[in-house]
Amino acid sequence: MKRELLSLIAHTDHPIAAPLTDESVSSLLDRAVSREDARVLDLGCGSGEWLLRALARFPRLQAVGVDLSGPALAEARERAEKLGVGDRLTLHEQDADDFTDPDGFDLVLCVGAAHAFDGLPGTLAATSRHLAPGGRLLVGDGYFEREPTEEAKEMLGDSGDLKAVMRQVTDAGLVPVHAHLSTRHELDAYEWAWTGSLAAWALDHPEDPDRAQALEVSAVHRDEWLNVYRDTWGFITLVLRQLG
Ligand SMILES: C[S@@+](CC[C@H](N)C(=O)[O-])C[C@H]1O[C@@H](n2cnc3c(N)ncnc32)[C@H](O)[C@@H]1O
Repeated sequence: MKRELLSLIAHTDHPIAAPLTDESVSSLLDRAVSREDARVLDLGCGSGEWLLRALARFPRLQAVGVDLSGPALAEARERAEKLGVGDRLTLHEQDADDFTDPDGFDLVLCVGAAHAFDGLPGTLAATSRHLAPGGRLLVGDGYFEREPTEEAKEMLGDSGDLKAVMRQVTDAGLVPVHAHLSTRHELDAYEWAWTGSLAAWALDHPEDPDRAQALEVSAVHRDEWLNVYRDTWGFITLVLRQLG
């Protein structure tokens, strides 16, 4: 089974693909959406869960999502139609770095997809390019709460600590107007949901040829999380505005 299909199954019980509770997501969106009729762009939107929640919450909001994964975008389209918000959602299957739009956006999101821009500095530059005057960014990325092992750095990339993250933000000419540090509960709930959904799918499909692979990926991911990065890794989601 392709990695993107495994990832969709792994997110069955936690469709936001980042360690945040539904309450944290709502509160971040409330801080980030500055007008009822906002134009919102999500770079690396996955199955579009952030945009779907924003569309459901703000009936005049318009949303655009960009992702490389066709199956994730198909899932986003299906959920949007079910929620009755499909007419306000546009999706593009392409590299987020190549996406262009002649008009600026009131809010640009990029959560858990900084690898699309080679890390946080590239993400801040790329998302800022799409901002309308007075617009906001909502950016979520990992960082190390404690000194990581070499293995953890190799696995997750060397994103630095919270001080390094904040330096990158201010160097980009951006000002944090709100932020959320994922709690121990949020970090654990996300990983248990990811590994648990995949394992449960495998157990529920005993005849499926992909069963063994799903069980293996779930077990390897659980071991890596518990043994390599659980004790050092954290996640920050920032709402940012441009200086000036
Ligand atoms: C961890 S998921 C985050 C999804 C979503 N932002 C969320 O928080 O629920 C990362 C997403 O980034 C997408 N992605 C990775 N590289 C990309 C690129 N170069 N252009 C567009 N999307 C990309 C992946 O396909 C995946 O859907």
